[in-house]
Amino acid sequence: MDMTDTVAMQDAPARPEGRDSELAGVRWRASRVMRRLGPARHEHPLFKLMQRHWGGGADAPAPPGRVAIDPAAIASRIGELPMLPRALAEVLKALQSDEVSTDSCTAAIEHDVSLSLRVLKLANSPFYGAPGRVGSIGDAVRLLGLRTVAGVVAAVSLQSTLLKAKPAGFDFERYWCHALATATLARELAPFGRQDADEAFIAGLLHDIGQMIMAVLVPDAFAKVTSLARQGDVELRQVELEELGVAHDTIGAQVAQRWGFPESIATAISSHHQPGQTIDGVASLGAIVRLADVIAHALDLTGSLDEAAPALSVQEWGALGLTEDGWLGILARTEEAVAYWTRSMGAS
Ligand SMILES: [Fe+2]
Ligand SMILES: [Fe+2]
Repeated sequence: MDMTDTVAMQDAPARPEGRDSELAGVRWRASRVMRRLGPARHEHPLFKLMQRHWGGGADAPAPPGRVAIDPAAIASRIGELPMLPRALAEVLKALQSDEVSTDSCTAAIEHDVSLSLRVLKLANSPFYGAPGRVGSIGDAVRLLGLRTVAGVVAAVSLQSTLLKAKPAGFDFERYWCHALATATLARELAPFGRQDADEAFIAGLLHDIGQMIMAVLVPDAFAKVTSLARQGDVELRQVELEELGVAHDTIGAQVAQRWGFPESIATAISSHHQPGQTIDGVASLGAIVRLADVIAHALDLTGSLDEAAPALSVQEWGALGLTEDGWLGILARTEEAVAYWTRSMGAS
C-alpha cells in the first residue's frame, strides 16, 4: 500500500497536554516509532529502552515466551463459556430467516423477565424513535420490527452474559464501550454499503468477541498480549499474531459458528480486520464492521490514550460515498448514541 495514500488514523491520539504531559509526551513520541518496528521490536534497543524507563528498570516484565494457541482447541472448550440466553439464540435465528415465528421470539424474550424489562427500556428510548409507546415485547416487535428488536436483545443479553464471565484483569468497560461504538457506527454505515442495518449492529457488537473468549479461556496469555499492546501502543491483533500465532478474529468466528450464529455474522467477525472488501459502494458486512471498528478506535470513545487505531486507506474511507457532512452527522450521532447506551445499560 502506498503510504501517502493512508489516512493517518494510526497517528491518533493527539499529543497529550496538561498534567504529566512531559512523561506522556515522551511515551507518545516513542510510540509513533514503535508501531513501525514490526515483529522484531522486542529485540530492538528502543523497545528495551522503553521497557527500562516505563516498565520500572530491572523489574520490567520480560517479553513473554511465545505460546502457540490452537483456535480449534479453544473453540472446542465452548462449554466453559457462559451459556447464551435462549432469547439470543431465538433472535439470531430470526435474523437468518424471514419465516421464523415472531411469536416464538417474543415468548423467548418475555420468558426472561429482567431481559424484557431492559429491552423495553431501550426500545422506548429516543434512539429508536418510538419513545414511551412500547408497552410490551409484542409492541416492540410491531413498532420497531423483529430485526431491530433482535439488535436490542443481542446487546442486552450479551452484556449480561459477558459480565458473568468477566475474567480478572479484563477491562470490560473499555471492551463494551468499543463494542457499542462499533455496533452503532456499523448500523449507520450499513445502508451506504447496501447491508442490513440491524444485522450490521449485531455484527458490530460481536466483532471482537474473540478477545473476550481468549480472556476467559487463556487468561494469562491474553493478559500478556493486552499489556504488550498497550505498552507499545501497537494494534492488539498484531501482538496476538506475534505472541500466540492466532488472533481474536479467527477465534471469535470459530466460536460464533459453534454457538450457531448466522454464517454472515461469523464471516463478518472473521474478516473485520481485512482491508479491501468494498467495491463500487457495495460492501460486505465485514467491510462495514471493519470501517466502523477503525472509526470507533479513532474517535477514542473509550478515552484510552494508548489505543492504536488500524490504518485506513483513502480508498476505503471513500468507498461508501459519504460526504463530509454525512460523516460529521454519523460521528456526532455515534457519540450521542454510545453515551446513551452506556448510561442506560450501565457499563459494568
Ligand atoms: Fe478486532
Ligand atoms: Fe474492534
